[in-house]
Amino acid sequence: MSAPERIPPRSVTPVDLLAEGELTVRGRIREASNAALFCTVAYEGREASCVYKPVAGERPLWDFPDGTLAQREVAAYEVSEATGWGLVPPTVLRDGPYGEGMVQLWIDVTPEAELLALVDGEEPEPGWKAIGFAEVGEGKTALLVHADDERLRRLAVLDAVINNADRKGGHLLPTEGGRLYGIDHGVAFNVENKLRTLLWGWAGEPLTAEAVEVLGSLRTGLKEGGELAGRLAGLITAAEVEATRARVEALLASGKHPEPSGEWPAIPWPPV
Ligand SMILES: Nc1ncnc2c1ncn2[C@@H]1O[C@H](COP(=O)(O)OP(=O)(O)O)[C@@H](O)[C@H]1O
Ligand SMILES: [Mg+2]
Repeated sequence: MSAPERIPPRSVTPVDLLAEGELTVRGRIREASNAALFCTVAYEGREASCVYKPVAGERPLWDFPDGTLAQREVAAYEVSEATGWGLVPPTVLRDGPYGEGMVQLWIDVTPEAELLALVDGEEPEPGWKAIGFAEVGEGKTALLVHADDERLRRLAVLDAVINNADRKGGHLLPTEGGRLYGIDHGVAFNVENKLRTLLWGWAGEPLTAEAVEVLGSLRTGLKEGGELAGRLAGLITAAEVEATRARVEALLASGKHPEPSGEWPAIPWPPV
């Protein structure tokens, strides 16, 4: 009799860990505007820290249907994965001690060179891009700038696709390995244009060749029956999927980073 074949243990991905792991609440995140809980997940001997935002803890908003923010966060992760840029930490929708919610891998932030700054003068220094002028008290204004950083530029494209209404400084998480993650995508995917972001530095500039290629693959994925369309189907409405597809088409048609629709760029407040 031959020895039974050994089946190698399936490797546990971060998504498995988040989706299947035992979720334990460790504390509440104070500065969060919705209920955001700091948790750990444990699964098959592995443990990770994560954020759990139960749907039941979502603050109602006038411009988004109630109880849909968690799904929007997962949808943002799905689009980020489809870009191949890995800009959003692994995020799943699952049940937890306070009911269904989104669970996202915790990112340990490593402070790095500033990504945002307020400077004197009318023009940014090389290496910086202008966002707009900000009032800094006593009738004075200063130029708000962000770094001319490839990672931010990719995030600006992702935000345009998902129609992010809240890209502020505190939602940019740099890590030790030089990666940059964006978080807090609960107010995205509205069918109306709600792009509110600090990342206006490339507004009106041509998209990079890389971004055009990525947008082309998003277009394919968002076609009826496409893989990304399928992944988004249970998370946002059919009209929101269609609007996402239309935003991708519009970006490809213009070949440019979007420009603010009003006289002033729409900036989240407070910006950090
Ligand atoms: N995945 C994450 N990794 C590390 N820190 C996080 C993560 N998600 C949230 N945080 C921290 O928790 C704070 C509140 O989370 P956020 O997503 O902004 O919640 P809210 O929807 O209430 O605004 C963030 O500003 C950030 O400091
Ligand atoms: Mg927030």
